[in-house]
Formats: sequence, structure tokens, C-alpha cells
Amino acid sequence: MAARKLMHAVQYNGYGGGPAELQHVEIPIPIPQQDEVLIKVEATSINPFDWKVQKGMLWPLFPRKFPYIPGQDLAGEVVEVGSGIQNFKPNDKVIAMLDPFQGGELAEYAVAKESLVAKRPSEVSAHEGSGIPVAGLTAHHALTQCAGIKLNGSGPKRNLLITAASDGVGLYAAQLSKLGNTHVTATCGARNIEFVRSLGADEVIDYKTQDGANLKSPSGKKYDAVINCASCIAWSTFEPNLSDYGKVIEVTPRPSTMIRVALKKLTLSRKQLVPLFLDAKVENIEYLVRLVNQGKLKVVIDSKYSLSKVEDAWAKSIEVHATGKMTVEP
Ligand SMILES: NC(=O)c1ccc[n+]([C@@H]2O[C@H](COP(=O)([O-])OP(=O)(O)OC[C@H]3O[C@@H](n4cnc5c(N)ncnc54)[C@H](OP(=O)(O)O)[C@@H]3O)[C@@H](O)[C@H]2O)c1
Repeated sequence: MAARKLMHAVQYNGYGGGPAELQHVEIPIPIPQQDEVLIKVEATSINPFDWKVQKGMLWPLFPRKFPYIPGQDLAGEVVEVGSGIQNFKPNDKVIAMLDPFQGGELAEYAVAKESLVAKRPSEVSAHEGSGIPVAGLTAHHALTQCAGIKLNGSGPKRNLLITAASDGVGLYAAQLSKLGNTHVTATCGARNIEFVRSLGADEVIDYKTQDGANLKSPSGKKYDAVINCASCIAWSTFEPNLSDYGKVIEVTPRPSTMIRVALKKLTLSRKQLVPLFLDAKVENIEYLVRLVNQGKLKVVIDSKYSLSKVEDAWAKSIEVHATGKMTVEP
């Protein structure tokens, strides 16, 4: 059998080390299994998950083995399909979410399960497409499945708080929530207040002010649901701002979140904490892509990098000061 051609990829070989431990390697182009497509990558995007795995914060679940090519979000062109693939063929432009156990986005080619691949219309650029899956799906899941918001505008009016509305997930949550019957309060840094307002939030507070730190709604509203995209906010800060049956949806659940969730259930508390574990579905990627194509949803790109300089994107993601997504082009 002829040897597989080589591709450029970026991987790490153990826990820790940050950007300095990302290794640039030449490895064989992967072979798609029966239910997979091989994609020539045009753009990918970084998520905090990627460097949290490298830090060992998700040990022992991720990664399954080293070396590990990180990343789940990409846009590109199908070049080869597995024997069971019906819906895709070479030259199709697509957006894919990769299996987090396998990773694989930081490379010239990647294999994706057909079940998480969506067609990409020509109006949606590769960079925009790569910014959609993980962050967009997380915001969609938080709003629809956890907070019960109907994105067709039906349902009773709900007061929402979105913390860190300038981050990758928060920017989607702020925009999508306004498709529902909602009043949205958002927090972000002072430099992003006007921008977050321009995307639809009704009230925006600087998280570094006293009212911002206390999460107080400027108009005195109590929140029916909080989409918490920020880290390190204590339950005691949320609690006085919640309506009687208010919920906090924790986008980044930690072990301490799970203990509090159990306590709230045991004490039959009306105010609830809900941990979000992403349930990714291709129809939701397709829905988000349609919204982008119709101009109803904006993919906000903080900055673009080349794969040869991916260390810079990695370092910036670790700093947690991006406004939107960081994308990488092979
Ligand atoms: N459960 C899941 O499946 C899932 C999926 C995706 C992401 N996540 C998690 O969601 C979190 C957010 O990810 P991301 O990619 O969206 O983050 P990110 O882009 O790195 O967030 C950075 C942004 O958040 C703002 N910010 C930071 N702390 C803030 C605070 N206390 N209040 C208000 N704004 C604040 C920063 O503003 P300044 O620069 O002005 O400070 C910056 O604009 C991460 O912890 C990630 O792991 C979970």
C-alpha cells in the first residue's frame, strides 16, 4: 500500500507547559473511517477547553492519549469520504465539530464524524464557520435546553443575565437570547459595553464596577436565568439577584458546582444551579449557520493567526481577554 502523504500538525505530548510545549510536526494525513470525512482545513478556532486539557484540568477524561492534536472547531473542504458516507462528497465546503477525545483541528487535514458535519454556504467564510461550533452550540444549549428560551420569540417574557457577554460563548448568548422574548442584562469590560449593546443587549454593566461585581440590574430586575460565562462568581453574588424560581446556568461546571447542585436539590431550593454539559447536535450547527447566512447572527472574530504562530493564539486564549473568537489558518 502506498505511504500516506505527510501534513503539518501541532500537538503536545504531556500535561503542562502552555504554548512553549506545542510541537510542530509532520505526520501522515489521517484516513477516514467508514463514518468519517477527511477535511482539508481552511480555518479553525481555539476554545478554552483546548488549553484546559493541556493544563490537566480535565484529567483523567481528556486526552485519551498523547501525543494529542488539540481542537474541535473547523471549516474546510471535504477531500475524501469513508465507505458509509452518503451526504458528503469531495469539494463540499463544510463546518465540523471534532470528537473532543480525538481532537485534531490544529493540522492541515482532519477527520470528522459525519454526524457533526454541516454544509457551509459560500456566504459564510471559513473563519466565521470555524468560530461557530463549540461556542455557538454552548450558547444555544444554555438558552434553549437549560433556560427554556424559545428562539422563535414565543413564550413568556424572561429576564436574563449573561455574564462575560464579550467572550466567545457570551457573544452568541447575547445575540441568540434576543431572538426569544427576553430582557437581557449583560456584563463585560468597559471597552466592550457599546459593542455588546449594539448586538442587542438591553442593559450592559461593566463587571469591574461595584454594581457590575454585584450583578445588579440597572433597572432593578430580578433574573429568571443567568447564563454564567464568567469564572469565579460565587453563588452568594447570584442569589439575591434571582427571581423566586431563578436558575444559574454554569457554562464551566467545576467539582464545587456539582456539590452545590446536589445541595440545592436536597434542600428543595427553588433557586437552582444548572451545570451545562454540551450535547452537540448537527441540526443546531445548521441552525446557527443559517442565522449567520441570514445576517441574524454575527461571528465575532477577535484575531486571526497562522498555524505557524498558533502559540500566540494559545497564549492569548489563556489570558482570557479576547473579544470573541481567535481563529487559526493552516
Ligand atoms: N460547557 C461547555 O461545553 C463549554 C463550551 C465552551 C466554552 N465553555 C467555557 O466557557 C467559558 C468562556 O469561554 P470563552 O471562550 O467564551 O472565553 P473567553 O473568550 O476567553 O473570555 C474572555 C472575555 O470575557 C471577559 N470577561 C472575563 N471575565 C469576566 C467577568 N468576570 N465578567 C465579565 N466579563 C468577563 C473578558 O473581558 P475583558 O477582556 O474586558 O476583561 C473577555 O472579553 C470558558 O470557561 C470555557 O471553558 C464551556
